Amino acid sequence: MLVLGIESSCDETAAAVVESSGVRPRIRSSVVTSQIEIHRRFGGVVPELASRNHLKMILPVIEEALKRAEVGLTDLSGIAVTQGPGLIGSLLVGFNLAKSLSFATGLPYRGVSHLESHLFAAMLEYDFDFPFLGLVVSGGHSSIIWMEKLGQYTTLARTRDDAVGEAFDKIAKFLKLGYPGGPALEEAARSGNPRAYPFPRAVMKNRSLDFSYSGLKTAVILKTRKHPAPLSPSQVSDLAASFQEAAVDMIISRVETALRQQGVNQLVASGGVACNSRLRERLAELSRSLGVRLLLPSPPLCTDNGAMVAMSGLLYFQAGLTSALDLNAYPIEAFYQPGKNNK
Ligand code: KG4
Ligand code: ZN
Repeated sequence: MLVLGIESSCDETAAAVVESSGVRPRIRSSVVTSQIEIHRRFGGVVPELASRNHLKMILPVIEEALKRAEVGLTDLSGIAVTQGPGLIGSLLVGFNLAKSLSFATGLPYRGVSHLESHLFAAMLEYDFDFPFLGLVVSGGHSSIIWMEKLGQYTTLARTRDDAVGEAFDKIAKFLKLGYPGGPALEEAARSGNPRAYPFPRAVMKNRSLDFSYSGLKTAVILKTRKHPAPLSPSQVSDLAASFQEAAVDMIISRVETALRQQGVNQLVASGGVACNSRLRERLAELSRSLGVRLLLPSPPLCTDNGAMVAMSGLLYFQAGLTSALDLNAYPIEAFYQPGKNNK
C-alpha cells in the first residue's frame, strides 16, 4: 500500500509518500518547506500569510514528494490529509486539495487528526501497537492522550492557556533570543544554571492533569524586569535554563501520573518540543525508572511533516476506513470534525 500524506495545519507545507512494506512502514519520500523566513520579522506565525504561502507551495511540494518516491498519482492506494486542529485558513488549503485530488482520480482519501499523526510518527521508527500513552508537545498543543485503539482516544490533559511550545517561543522572544524560539531557548539554556531561579510549577485543582504555562511565563517576565537592563549573557542563560527546567518538570510530573493511572508500559512523545534535549533526557530517565518503553521519534519526525500524516492514513486505509467528500477541516482541539464522526 502506498499513501500520500499532506500537511498544512500551521507554517509548514509538507507532503510524503509512505509504503507499507515488511515489518514497518517505510518513508519513500518526505518534503517539508518551512515558512520561517516569512514570519520571522513578525516574531510569530501570521495566519493570513501562512495560508497564502501554502497555496503557492502545496502543488510543487506534492509533485516533488511523488517525484522523489518515483511514483505517480495512479500508483497510490490513497491520500491522507490533516483535517485539524490548526489554523483554519492553512488547513483548508491542504484539505480541499486532497478532496479535489480524490474526486478527480477516484482515489480514497482520509482526513486525519494532527495530534494522532504526531503520535503515529513513532510507528515509522519503532514496532509497537496500541494501547499506549501519547504526549504531544508542540507550538499548538500540550496534550496527554490515552490511545486505546485506532480512533478511540481519551484526552487526559490539555492546556488551559498557552501550549508549551508557545511559552518557549514567547519567552525566547522576550529574552531576544531569536525566532523560532524553542531551539534558540534550548541553545541559550545549555550554558545556564537550571536552579538559578526557582520558577513556579503549576498544579491544577481537583487532581486535573491539565497544563498551564501562563504563571511560569509571567514569573520569568517579572524576574527579568527586576534586573537592571541590559541583562548579561549569563543572566539570560540562567533565565532560559530555569524556565526550561520548570517547563519540562511540569510535563514529566503529569506524564508520570498518567502512566501510573493507566498502568500502561508504552509511552510515545512527539511534537516540536519533543526535539528538546532536556525533555528527551528526562523522558528517558522517567521511562527507565518506571520500566516503560519510550517511543520517541527522531527530531525531524517530531516537528510537522507529511510522513506522519501518511502513516495515519495507512492505518485507516488498512482498517478499510475512508472519509466522505462532505467532511470539512476544523480548527479546534478535537479528533474529528465536531458533529461528524468520520467513521
Ligand atoms: O510540532 P510543531 O512543528 O508544530 C506545531 O504543531 O505546533 O512544533 C513547533 C513548536 C514551536 O513552538 C517550537 O518553538 C517548538 O516546537 N520547538 C522546540 C524545540 N524545537 C522546536 N521547543 C523547545 N526546544 C526545542 N528544541
Ligand atoms: Zn504539529
